[in-house]
Amino acid sequence: MSVVLKLASACKVNLLLNILGRRDDGFHELETLIHPVPMYDELHLERIGDGINLSCNDTRLALDETNLVFRAAKAFLKEVKSTEGVRIHLQKNLPIAAGIGAGSANAGMTLRGLNELWGQPLPDESLHKLAGVLGSDVPFFLQDGPALAFHRGEKIDPIDPFPALQGTGLLLINPGFGVSTPWAYRQLGEHPVALKGEPGRAQALAGALRKGTLTDASNLFYNSLEIPVFAKHPVLPVIRDYFKENGAIVSLMSGSGATIFALTSSRSDAEKLREKYHGRFGEAGWSRTVLL
Ligand code: C5P
Repeated sequence: MSVVLKLASACKVNLLLNILGRRDDGFHELETLIHPVPMYDELHLERIGDGINLSCNDTRLALDETNLVFRAAKAFLKEVKSTEGVRIHLQKNLPIAAGIGAGSANAGMTLRGLNELWGQPLPDESLHKLAGVLGSDVPFFLQDGPALAFHRGEKIDPIDPFPALQGTGLLLINPGFGVSTPWAYRQLGEHPVALKGEPGRAQALAGALRKGTLTDASNLFYNSLEIPVFAKHPVLPVIRDYFKENGAIVSLMSGSGATIFALTSSRSDAEKLREKYHGRFGEAGWSRTVLL
């Protein structure tokens, strides 16, 4: 009987996302401080005779070449010149197009898992190359800790976990609509301040979190994409500010949204804020808390 490899596929929040300018290839140069979030989708991988047989519990996701997991598997099998194929089941628990990188994590974990199932034929460098082609956020998920990321976001500098974040509560809320990442980046043309950030902010936040408390660092958290995304979705800044007015130490949009996160002193504070949020804004949407 063949082995089924079961993997937990996490997500992330951008503690800071500073866009520095538009590049000639149409992407944007950026600096970002990314933190892993221990909330998970699940992946089951199994070697089969041939082909890529992908299934998923979430019917909104296409199972063809447009699916990042499919593309990750195809890229891996081609790179190792495999004559075999793979069966993959993706159990989706996290929201899609939400700015928390769950789809990128699924692709990164597919590469890691297949490399394990095939006996580690690819060195880290080759995995990073494949991951960077799949998407700017995918290389982050080839490792497990916080990281600074540069260029398109694909150049990863892993850093040690921050003591200032240990024991804090994280609340994520997604109001139930997705934001298209290419759309959000395109809108930056209308917002010159958001398009041309001053470099150095990601390192400044990382430095502050290394040296001091979360409260000390709290005014350094920043996301350039809030400007265009909030202009289209005015409920999002209302939620972000509500979190701040109701006990969050930090509150910010993650990635291109629409997920807003809050950092609180403890998990129970995050849970209280979550209940309060639903009391005020209704039960719609997706919300979770976790201990960092
Ligand atoms: O790399 P990824 O496929 O996740 O990017 C999705 C889209 O987001 C890109 O096609 C591009 O429009 C935009 N993007 C960008 N600059 C980045 C990352 C993403 O313009 N650094």
